[in-house]
Amino acid sequence: MYEIPVTLTQNPKKKPEDESKLGFGKIFTDHMFVMDYEVGRGWYDARVVPYGPFVMDPATTVFHYAQEIFEGMKCYRRQDGGLQLFRPRDNFERMNRSAARMGMPAVDVEQVLAGLIALLKADADWVPSAPGTSLYIRPTMIATDVMLGVHASHNYRFYIICSPSGAYYPKGLAPVGIYVEPELVRAVKGGVGFTKTGGNYAASILAGELAKQKGYEQVLWLDGRENKYIEEVGAMNMFFKINGTLVTPPLLGSILGGITRDSIIKLAKHMNLPVEERSLTVQDVFDAAERGELEEAFGSGTAAVVSPVGRLAWNDKEITISGGEIGAYTQKFYDMLTGIQFGSVQDPFDWVLKID
Ligand code: PLP
Ligand code: COI
Repeated sequence: MYEIPVTLTQNPKKKPEDESKLGFGKIFTDHMFVMDYEVGRGWYDARVVPYGPFVMDPATTVFHYAQEIFEGMKCYRRQDGGLQLFRPRDNFERMNRSAARMGMPAVDVEQVLAGLIALLKADADWVPSAPGTSLYIRPTMIATDVMLGVHASHNYRFYIICSPSGAYYPKGLAPVGIYVEPELVRAVKGGVGFTKTGGNYAASILAGELAKQKGYEQVLWLDGRENKYIEEVGAMNMFFKINGTLVTPPLLGSILGGITRDSIIKLAKHMNLPVEERSLTVQDVFDAAERGELEEAFGSGTAAVVSPVGRLAWNDKEITISGGEIGAYTQKFYDMLTGIQFGSVQDPFDWVLKID
């Protein structure tokens, strides 16, 4: 239905030789999808072109006021060599919710999906096949007016770039140490916490660096009002298994509604594991640990997949969860989710979109 013109590169890059050393988001494929927007005209010039830099005026609004949104999704290589996406329409629909909050135009979900598929066909050889690797996909929208007034831009660029990637955390599926940030906050209700806008990540960088200096991989954010309710981690939603029930914070506007989070909730119901979306405080978690009822904790995200939390530090206390090992359900969720994503486990939810 959507014809996307494709210009193939004349200078293909050398592909990585050792897929076990890809890291996350460090190298990029040969092509990108791009389209532009102008108020009154709508989106125009949807195209797949060779990957390369954009030349932009230093006064372009995105550089000053951060009117920018993005998404994160993956393309997986099946055992039979074919390629597939996981819930791609959910990503573009979430992008439209981010766009609405940031005063940016919506995209046509079917058009950008057609653009993504055209891009993946051009870059199919870049989708890695080593265990645990995939092609990370980064749809992005930026405001491109050249002006310094603070108001919605009239022009935007939407683009998709792709990066063959391995595990987000350098240690792979190994328990991570998480630091509960006691003072700095990421987002508040009414703000933009539920969107995937660059500013949320910029706001998290200082705390992330401080946590790293203390020996932890990620920051766990608390609510911005009372500094006690658990929100989410820098790049993932949180789950706790307490006394046989899976608990995850509800979507009240300050955290991202993760597509992996939603998938875990549905998988838990499918497995008859009780699951509750409810507010819980960091004190609740430490109390449950004290009573011996905190059975497992893990984060969920596209990049992070299912990531066990082995240590949780809050003020001067630190707890070890599941003996610092991968919990049984954490492993089960990881296996089921990645099994569906890579096509080795049957997909009862119609989540997978095969593209060849
Ligand atoms: N929370 C934040 C702040 C994130 O950046 C991400 C990653 O996209 C997630 C949660 C998990 O979302 P998803 O499962 O859709 O990747
Ligand atoms: C993702 O999981 O897709 C993300 O966007 C995380 C990213 C901030 C690294």
